[in-house]
Amino acid sequence: MSETEPGAEPLPILLLNGPNLNTLGVRQPEVYGAATLDDVVALAERTAAELGFGLRAAQTNHEGQMIDWLHEARGQISGIVINPAAWTHTSVALADALVIPDVPIMEVHISNVHKREAFRHHSYVSPLASGVIAGFGIRGYEFAIRQLADVIG
Ligand code: DQA
Repeated sequence: MSETEPGAEPLPILLLNGPNLNTLGVRQPEVYGAATLDDVVALAERTAAELGFGLRAAQTNHEGQMIDWLHEARGQISGIVINPAAWTHTSVALADALVIPDVPIMEVHISNVHKREAFRHHSYVSPLASGVIAGFGIRGYEFAIRQLADVIG
């Protein structure tokens, strides 16, 4: 049975976290909170499972690695939840790669980037995203997955 037929298992959601997010819980807890990346992944897995989706989660500090994962994801996933971290504000290459899988994208920021330095106010990812969530702590990942599941249908 093909994955697009009614009743078929949906393709998994891809959760991507960008640079320095492996240090969640240690890095600037006054900005990013006490939760760790493992907590984020566990929350995302629980939420996706509740909605009938599998989850693939990955974090990297290497931009080319993230771009390679996006190339490999084409045809393999039903949507993307991404916290691009600092690449949000800098990377045309990441933005170009994000459209390659051709699936809905949700952009998540743990902190409210709009309350912070001006360089964090611009995002190369937001114009590609179905939704943007910022400032809700790690609960933003849960909200993003719920909304993504709705968008996927
Ligand atoms: C972040 C905000 C970015 O500006 C920053 O570079 C990060 C994390 C957030 O989750 O709030 O690394 O994406």
